[in-house]
Amino acid sequence: MKDLVVAMTGASGSIYTVRLLEVMLAVGRNVHLTISPAAVEVFKQELGTTIDLENFDKSQLLPTADEVSNDSKLKMLRAGSSSMHVMSSVFSEEDDEARIGELTYHHYRDFSAGIASGSFTTAGMVICPCSMGTLGSLASGQATNLIHRAAEVHLKERRKLVLVPRETPLSSIQLDNMKRLSDAGAVILPAMPGFYHNPVTIHDLVDFVVSRICDQLGIELDLTQRWGN
Ligand SMILES: Cc1cc2nc3c(=O)[nH]c(=O)nc-3n(C[C@H](O)[C@H](O)[C@H](O)COP(=O)(O)O)c2cc1C
Repeated sequence: MKDLVVAMTGASGSIYTVRLLEVMLAVGRNVHLTISPAAVEVFKQELGTTIDLENFDKSQLLPTADEVSNDSKLKMLRAGSSSMHVMSSVFSEEDDEARIGELTYHHYRDFSAGIASGSFTTAGMVICPCSMGTLGSLASGQATNLIHRAAEVHLKERRKLVLVPRETPLSSIQLDNMKRLSDAGAVILPAMPGFYHNPVTIHDLVDFVVSRICDQLGIELDLTQRWGN
């Protein structure tokens, strides 16, 4: 299976990125991650910890092995993964049954990263959450950081690009930008959880959005109850 690209920008909703990464890695997918400086600000505000973009360590972002072992859904996903990847683990190294994907970090200014080139093939990219600033840059074709560049590569290569905006209300400019990007092939997937699956906790709402993102990227899993099932 090809690698996935995840970018985190400075919109509210850091918790979505953390959960998305947990899930992708748990099902054995390799992920390329890049983070904007504004995302670091929002992450600190929302989750209380600091991500060091210059000296990135996945422990700054992802839960500990103990936290993961208490998460029954993640345990189920890991057990059910059919991936053959047994790469560097963000989880317990002692867990022999774990089939965990590899997380590769790229600095947002590193235009020499593989994901900046169309010749580096991927299974798709998601910007989660996607700020209105990043949305505007993409809509106007400006690639001033690796996030913009990787996204425009996915568009030009006609690969899946999922944008997860979080803003309300929306101006006409923002709506126009979304329309423009949708016309260019991007999937606009707002961080708008549904309530028909009877959520009880914030995690239920987060999993709803993460499930919809995974559906778009062809990652098959059942994190939340599906309508009709
Ligand atoms: C705490 C905090 C929350 C923010 N929430 C949002 C948001 O929900 N949506 C948004 O578009 N911008 C939000 N912003 C503003 C963006 O971070 C800002 O426009 C930034 O320039 C985006 O840069 P980036 O796209 O490179 O990450 C927020 C900023 C802060 C500090």
